[in-house]
Amino acid sequence: MYGSDKVSEDAERTAFRKAEKKYKLYYDDSSKSSRKKKQPKQVDLSEVLDFKSILDSYNQNGQLPPGIVAVQCGFNSPVFLLENHPGFYFIPGALSMQEQSQWIRESLTSFPQPPNRTNHNAFYGPIDDLFNAVKEKKVLLEEESSIGSLDLGASSCTSNEDAHRWKFYEEDIATLRGKTCKSVKAGVLLRKLRWCTLGLQFDWSKRNYNVSLPHKKIPDALCQLAKRLAAPAMPIGEEFQPEAAIVNYFGLGDTLGGHLDDMEADWSKPIVSMSLGCKAIFLLGGKSREDPPLAMFLRSGDAVLMAGEARECFHGVPRIFTDRENAEIASLDLQFSHEDDPFFLEYIRNSRININIRQVF
Ligand code: OGA
Ligand code: MN
Repeated sequence: MYGSDKVSEDAERTAFRKAEKKYKLYYDDSSKSSRKKKQPKQVDLSEVLDFKSILDSYNQNGQLPPGIVAVQCGFNSPVFLLENHPGFYFIPGALSMQEQSQWIRESLTSFPQPPNRTNHNAFYGPIDDLFNAVKEKKVLLEEESSIGSLDLGASSCTSNEDAHRWKFYEEDIATLRGKTCKSVKAGVLLRKLRWCTLGLQFDWSKRNYNVSLPHKKIPDALCQLAKRLAAPAMPIGEEFQPEAAIVNYFGLGDTLGGHLDDMEADWSKPIVSMSLGCKAIFLLGGKSREDPPLAMFLRSGDAVLMAGEARECFHGVPRIFTDRENAEIASLDLQFSHEDDPFFLEYIRNSRININIRQVF
């Protein structure tokens, strides 16, 4: 599902692909050549399901749009179900502000720490303390010992994995040495962080969970949260057992192409998916890419469960919004503004994080 930009001509014509194109970020051609900041193309958002306004009117007058059902599951707000998508659950504002800021912090500090793997592993090997390196304006340098083996193309990815050839250096040392070896700023690496995996490590190249890869258990507090959120979609008397999680990081223009999460053995267990930071559009399709997907907004603090039949449905994220009006992170912004650490605020103003928790076996 990653790097899925190369779509075959057939796939270009599916209903799912059409919806992705409709909502994806494009820029106005007219502004390209001018010196003005390029302007995003206007998109028609009138068909995007907005559970926040649905919740507001439900609270006011008890009414719901056709096809949507509300159930009380012991959360602060009702849980919404879709008649046409059994197994799909939407929990608006499932996470408190406190929880949102806690999981944003962890997503940027502890989650990408080895042995957890990130998209940077293939090229740079494991990277320690990326977020601190960003704060300290450090630069990752390729160790001199490896100069001579200049083949850093995709084919050498696996051999880089355990070589530990890259290390962080202070900016001034990096400036001196950067002339003779490859370098990349920590800030650039953070902006290009697209995913990390917690618990059992997912191997994207083989598309399976590789139990032999070293891993830590998912942090207890995250397990407890996932169990609480998963409860509405669990068979009575059973408790969700979080074994693996994928954390997705989105910057402006980043998308998650339509896909199925079908690598877990037991599909009766839900996938618990939490949104943090900037608002996004989520597409929920059917079992075929030909089925026209439903578009809905996901805001910071929302949680979605996909269980049963909904687990067999294509889904993806074609768009995130980072502009002040549409990102809808005012309260988060306030929460982080009170701190002496401006880095979380800076990151989250332009990003979305999704924590996606699974029971594998
Ligand atoms: C995934 C996924 C959805 C999201 O990671 O498999 O579907 O909201 N994420 O980012
Ligand atoms: Mn998914």
